Amino acid sequence: AALTGVVEYRNVTFAYPGAESPVLSNISFTARPGQTIAIIGSTGAGKTSLLSLLPRLYDPVEGQVLLDGVPVDKLDRAEITKRVALVPQRPYLFSGTIEHNLRFGKTEATDQELWDALRVAQGESFVREKKNGLGARISQGGTNVSGGQRQRLCIARALVTKPRVYLFDDSFSALDVATDARLRTALKGITRDATVIIVAQRISTITEADQILVLDNGRIVDRGTHEELLETSPTYQEIVES
Ligand code: GTP
Ligand code: MG
Repeated sequence: AALTGVVEYRNVTFAYPGAESPVLSNISFTARPGQTIAIIGSTGAGKTSLLSLLPRLYDPVEGQVLLDGVPVDKLDRAEITKRVALVPQRPYLFSGTIEHNLRFGKTEATDQELWDALRVAQGESFVREKKNGLGARISQGGTNVSGGQRQRLCIARALVTKPRVYLFDDSFSALDVATDARLRTALKGITRDATVIIVAQRISTITEADQILVLDNGRIVDRGTHEELLETSPTYQEIVES
């Protein structure tokens, strides 16, 4: 079968190792290539935990996570890494050049591909302004770049791997509204055929999503488009009004 990047969570329940109660209960949804699925919910609802199961940072205690119809625990980790890119909530940069940070996990990328990824991630101009450009040094933990720049470099790093599936964990929150909008417009072109799952705080980031999952206390309490949820979901209305 073609590896197109279909993601399916099937009745997934998850508890952290050693913890008694689950942080995710009976999660089911499907995300298909070309779709954007958004996940919204209050802090501690389980959004990051949910994303972590696809790249197998953890495994569910019940149910299955499938990638292109295959349970991810039957796939090679290298195979998952090739097809799925996670931009974590706390974007991580290591000590080295910008180039090293962008090529991480994708050593054969050309400089042109790095610049293309930076352009989409709205990181081109601040890298060009650096004296050494791609060769500019990042200190351990990325402390010599701003939070928004760190997020953009981590988004660019994900783009460089050209995955089938993108997981963005609150990746746009440190950006101002205008940059967030520009970035998502640019992303749309690049990710047209990919599967995109976005965790977001800001409603404007997700109004165009094909489906929004409203997560509350580890459960999907409502799902639909922005317009549908405005009509049907009190939890969603609360988030919109907050
Ligand atoms: P925000 O990022 O703050 O919006 O929250 P979230 O929706 O991403 O929640 P997350 O998935 O991080 O956490 C869900 C629940 O799992 C919370 O009750 C956390 O305290 C708990 N949790 C998160 N990470 C860990 C972990 O590494 N170990 C344990 N035992 N619990 C965790
Ligand atoms: Mg989180």
